[in-house]
Amino acid sequence: MKVDVLLGLQWGDEGKGKIVDVLTPGYEIVARFQGGPNAGHTLEFEGKKYVLRSVPSGIFQGDKINIIGNGVVLDPALFKGEIEALESSGHKLKGRLLISKKAHLILPAHRLLDACYEASKGDSRIGTTGKGIGPAYTDKISRNGLRVGDLLHNFDEKYKSATEKHLKILNQYGFDTAALAGIEKEWFASVAKLKEFTFIDSEHYINNAIKQEKKILAEGAQGTMLDIDFGSYPFVTSSNTIAAGACTGLGVAPCKIGEVFGIFKAYCTRVGSGPFPTELPDGTGDKLREYGFEFGSVTGRPRRCGWIDLVALRYAIMIDGVTQLIMMKSDVLDSFETIKACVSYEINGEKVSDFPFEADDNIKPVYVEMKGWQTDMTKMQEEKEFPEEFGDYIAFLEKELGIPISIVSLGPDRAQTIIRK
Ligand code: GDP
Ligand code: IMO
Ligand code: MG
Repeated sequence: MKVDVLLGLQWGDEGKGKIVDVLTPGYEIVARFQGGPNAGHTLEFEGKKYVLRSVPSGIFQGDKINIIGNGVVLDPALFKGEIEALESSGHKLKGRLLISKKAHLILPAHRLLDACYEASKGDSRIGTTGKGIGPAYTDKISRNGLRVGDLLHNFDEKYKSATEKHLKILNQYGFDTAALAGIEKEWFASVAKLKEFTFIDSEHYINNAIKQEKKILAEGAQGTMLDIDFGSYPFVTSSNTIAAGACTGLGVAPCKIGEVFGIFKAYCTRVGSGPFPTELPDGTGDKLREYGFEFGSVTGRPRRCGWIDLVALRYAIMIDGVTQLIMMKSDVLDSFETIKACVSYEINGEKVSDFPFEADDNIKPVYVEMKGWQTDMTKMQEEKEFPEEFGDYIAFLEKELGIPISIVSLGPDRAQTIIRK
């Protein structure tokens, strides 16, 4: 039995939450492998909408086990808020949500450090979610981090020493630390909620489950183009969002990875700063934002919108070893007269087909233009109802990308999903 991986191929917000929920009935365990509360994974069903941040998106499907893996960074205060919102809507998670002892903690000062580093970058700031993600992963890599398992022994001592180091840095920058006491108060009051859940050695748990032939789905956060190694550095997040991240973020050997489901939108979005070759800072981009309701699920920031970028998608498919594609938000294009897809870039007059080292303003996207289907697809239940032009769009993408599109999403609801044979 192998672990299947589901991850975003663009700049995040592809619709991972919705599809993990759709696929969960076919699995016994769903495990998040990286990221933290910078993620906002939206699920809609039975007229209700939920946004998950640290909790895996398999939580709404029966008695499945959900795991927060070692690769995740966890903020007890935000986690408490998330759990309480779920509990108040009637979803009891105890016994079904397990947390890796090796997951790193986002400490109160990490949020301040995130704001401090952003402020110090001026015009070249990343546009982070402000949740302390970068500083928490920085401490992990520099071997100064604290982990969930540390909450069980002499935590106060370890916390004091870590926070002294953080304050030293903040003071060097002259950053106002007045907010720390308030954040600390809320953070420590939330630890009890976190401790209601079972802390596990998740690498053992998952590998035992593999031996017992249990079906496991690994859920990614963010997207491949935000990966710390392969994304548009430095405008990236601080973890490995790629398929290999599932190995390090869960303790699963590469030979144990099965299907890799790569999710992408029928167009493109990005939130925060950084290169975006097919961005449409015009009326067409505004239309995509309006029809796709492209506003951040965590920060509410308007997402930048543009046409689909097949150069970036091919790159992501290569890095992730995608075996099946999932196309989201196809319905957002329902009313467009024409649809464009970027098939290559032109840089300094030369055609470029491989994603370049620097994706800067020099890039001119080369587009193929197609006729739109101008049909409302949101109520369609079967592939045979698809308008001809939409069928052509799918065939074009499959040919360009070399991988089958096995699921098409036609709306935010769980039910608006077509699994292709
Ligand atoms: P994630 O971070 O990858 O889970 O994606 P987000 O939840 O941040 O953003 C995806 C947004 O699109 C959410 O508001 C979803 O409810 C919505 N959504 C997902 N699939 C579809 C779809 O096929 N059509 C439309 N119109 N909206 C969708
Ligand atoms: P999901 O899982 C979209 C972006 C931020 C910023 C950069 C770094 O919902 O797809 P960070 O706070 O991680 O240090 O910010 O990454 N970013 C996301 N963009 N979806 C996400 O998650 C994101 N998580 C981080 O906007 O540009
Ligand atoms: Mg999101």
